[in-house]
Amino acid sequence: MTVFETQQEILRLKAEKDICILAHSYQAREITEIADFVGDSYALSVKAAQVPNKTVIMCGVRFMAETVKILSPEKRVILVNGDAGCPMAEQMDVDLIEQLKAMNDGFKVVAYINTTAELKTVCDVCVTSSSAVKIINAMPEKDILFIPDINLGTYVNRQCPDKNIKLVSGGCPTHCRVSSKHVEKARADHPNALLLVHPECMPEVWENADYIGSTSGIMGFAKKSEAKEFIIGTENSIVEHLQYDCPDKIFYPLSKSLVCQNMKITTLPEVLACVKGDFGEDIEIDEETRLKAKKCIDKMIEYGG
Ligand code: 13P
Ligand code: SF4
Repeated sequence: MTVFETQQEILRLKAEKDICILAHSYQAREITEIADFVGDSYALSVKAAQVPNKTVIMCGVRFMAETVKILSPEKRVILVNGDAGCPMAEQMDVDLIEQLKAMNDGFKVVAYINTTAELKTVCDVCVTSSSAVKIINAMPEKDILFIPDINLGTYVNRQCPDKNIKLVSGGCPTHCRVSSKHVEKARADHPNALLLVHPECMPEVWENADYIGSTSGIMGFAKKSEAKEFIIGTENSIVEHLQYDCPDKIFYPLSKSLVCQNMKITTLPEVLACVKGDFGEDIEIDEETRLKAKKCIDKMIEYGG
């Protein structure tokens, strides 16, 4: 089957079976083309609560599928490839957060959405990279414990000077692969290009960037900008999508190593098999966990809306 035939079959079957396909913007082009909605983590969460379909297929990583299930328990939610996890989401466990809470009495725990459903049960508010500053500024509390991404946390801390934010040492192994050395080389190789960076990178990477933002933020900025050349400091699928969407501009990866294997594991043939009912993992979350985890996602939507 060609890529086009596979896509046509997916489109036919998903319409027949009342399936909605959600895809994170790090997915391959051939997958984003057949998705009903493509976006960053925040947009996917908001969409998850709104889609009318009985079944939702997530092309992304586990925490994204869990978010859909937490918000829409009546739906069947399927993660296309059950091996697609986010290493950052699993860096901290409930015991550690309970200990940190005991050591920081009165602090509100703000969790990056890249956390497991179980971890969300002991957190107060969720944020995503595109909504973190707005949400933390909207929170009435001043004392905040931000988990698990120290780089995003550092960025938020600088943007919210009125808050007292404590950070813990976690982060994204993909975005942590780039350093100021990559920035120096890319700037020297492409002196006319703007540098657009995801805040999951280390501060030395985004400190002198021309734009800092989420995957959708980076794409939106590049599309609107008058500039013609851009160095992209996030997962390299964004370079591919932007090059496709903006053929009159040039996009360079900050580093060839900016590849998230977990995001890349899902393939178009797997999506077809999933739509047929032969592949994929049904997401199940027990009701107690779901209700506790939902509180901090609801807060995210309330403060971020
Ligand atoms: P966004 O919120 O920018 O989509 O980021 C998700 C992610 O996993 C980035 O590594
Ligand atoms: Fe997780 Fe990093 Fe991959 Fe995003 S890029 S899914 S944070 S490992």
